[in-house]
Amino acid sequence: MRISVLVVVIAIIFMVNGCGDSNRDYGSELYTKHCANCHGIEGQGLQDLYPPIKGADYLIENQADLVCLMRYGIDGEILVNGKKYDQKMPSLPNLSDVDLTNIINYIAKNIEPQLKQVSLKEVKEKSYDCK
Ligand code: HEC
Repeated sequence: MRISVLVVVIAIIFMVNGCGDSNRDYGSELYTKHCANCHGIEGQGLQDLYPPIKGADYLIENQADLVCLMRYGIDGEILVNGKKYDQKMPSLPNLSDVDLTNIINYIAKNIEPQLKQVSLKEVKEKSYDCK
């Protein structure tokens, strides 16, 4: 009897935690789906092919251009922490402004703290400016 009550209580706790998370971390899901394949789940990069995001001087110095970079990709030689990379990052045109905001804030919170958090409004404004 006692045990079944306990089981029910535990089940309720799990349900509440599972369903009540209206602020589910979309940023994490989006990062995993759209970025982690190349840049690694922790932003560590992949050898000479994909530059890191964690601790990347390029990212920190060019954070104003991150929205455009994510949406349109980037091509040509770049230097990240003194190392040359020269592969094409594909464009990700299907990501909405909300998606981009979530990804940037996920990176800022969990991967590279020197990246500033952004608001949807800032991302929208930036999107207009992409060449
Ligand atoms: C198919 C692989 C691939 C995917 C997916 C990808 N990237 Fe990249 N990314 C690259 C490559 C390759 C470069 C280097 C481009 C170059 O050499 O010009 C790069 C460069 C970058 C840079 C600039 C260099 C640095 O590390 O600071 C940032 C920032 C970046 N990517 C962020 C992202 C984010 C955020 C996502 C997900 C929305 C993403 N990338 C998805 C391959 C990828």
